[in-house]
Amino acid sequence: MDRTRAYISSTGMYFPEKRVTNNEFAKTMDTSDEWIRERTGIAERRFSAEGEATSDMSAKAAMDCLDRAGVSPDEVDAIVVCTVTPDMFFPSTACLVQRKIGASNAWGFDLSAACSGFVFGLSTGAQFIESGRYKKVLVIGCDTMTSIVDFSDRATCVLFGDGAGAVLLEPSKDGEAGIIDFEMHCDGTGEEFLYMPAGGSLNPPSHETVDKKMHYVQQDGRTVFKFAVKYMTEVSEQLLKKNQIPIEDMRLVIPHQANLRIINSISDRLKLTEEQLGLNIEKYANTTAATIPTCLCEYHRAGKLKPGDLIMASSFGAGFTWGSVLFRWGI
Ligand code: ACO
Repeated sequence: MDRTRAYISSTGMYFPEKRVTNNEFAKTMDTSDEWIRERTGIAERRFSAEGEATSDMSAKAAMDCLDRAGVSPDEVDAIVVCTVTPDMFFPSTACLVQRKIGASNAWGFDLSAACSGFVFGLSTGAQFIESGRYKKVLVIGCDTMTSIVDFSDRATCVLFGDGAGAVLLEPSKDGEAGIIDFEMHCDGTGEEFLYMPAGGSLNPPSHETVDKKMHYVQQDGRTVFKFAVKYMTEVSEQLLKKNQIPIEDMRLVIPHQANLRIINSISDRLKLTEEQLGLNIEKYANTTAATIPTCLCEYHRAGKLKPGDLIMASSFGAGFTWGSVLFRWGI
């Protein structure tokens, strides 16, 4: 297919200052640094400050991304904010980010695909560029998971953190760098295994929903674990096969950072080397839609990527949703 490729022309990220180690949890509940590290690979995570919401973190990651590119906010055509923890139901977080960064010529919307938010958003944003309609699209992955986790449930609260990552998409200059292909899926039969039952039209907020803790993340961790490994591996293999790219040619594969054991199982199945595996879970835990863009940004900033490198980002999350995006680095 003859089309304009969309390439990532800049990356940005933001993590709140407050650092919370595993030992902090051990002070208030029956858990330990050892259990959390062994079962998840997480050592610490960041918590947003009081009153610091998804639009605030998103705006900071967006400005970091635009500043690095030397692009002014009023040059941005569209903003896609991938999140399951919007500031509020409406207006969308994208509108709030548009205002906060002064992107006076942009329109935008929120995209809800939980942990797969960023890969869904990246493939959506890429098509705005590929169509030829837009020249600068911001894709932001951000979640304030501390706003929806039950801090009395040791099986979920230790897993998550807050953060934001952003990328700028522009038309590829050389036609080589950019999004090569993607494959996305969803299967709503996964609903019961990972969800937040109340707050929406099915169970509007009431004293009862609050008393029953229905505004928190509920999950069947073992089932999520199993499907995360299966689907992220399968979709990654399919995408590489379809594009006739052997795994040895990949510079970096960034799986969604939910649990190091999930990541290592995928890595073993795909036969990735240590050098090829993108990781940042130890420092930030699972930041839902922010894991992949922040990890990509860190590798970029550390000088570990060079133009021409092949990269794949793969994710799995509530829905179930899952997918992989394959791209060639261009900065
Ligand atoms: N500290 C100490 N013990 C704990 C903790 C904790 N923080 N959490 C659970 N346990 C206990 C359980 O109560 C259980 O005790 P029991 O045997 O007395 O009942 C025991 O540890 C084993 O529990 P399991 O659930 O079997 O532990 P498992 O090894 O499956 O690990 C975990 C649990 C970490 C949640 C794992 O299943 C997991 O990571 N699943 C994936 C879930 C996930 O990542 N969700 C994020 C959103 S989706 C996504 O991003 C892909």
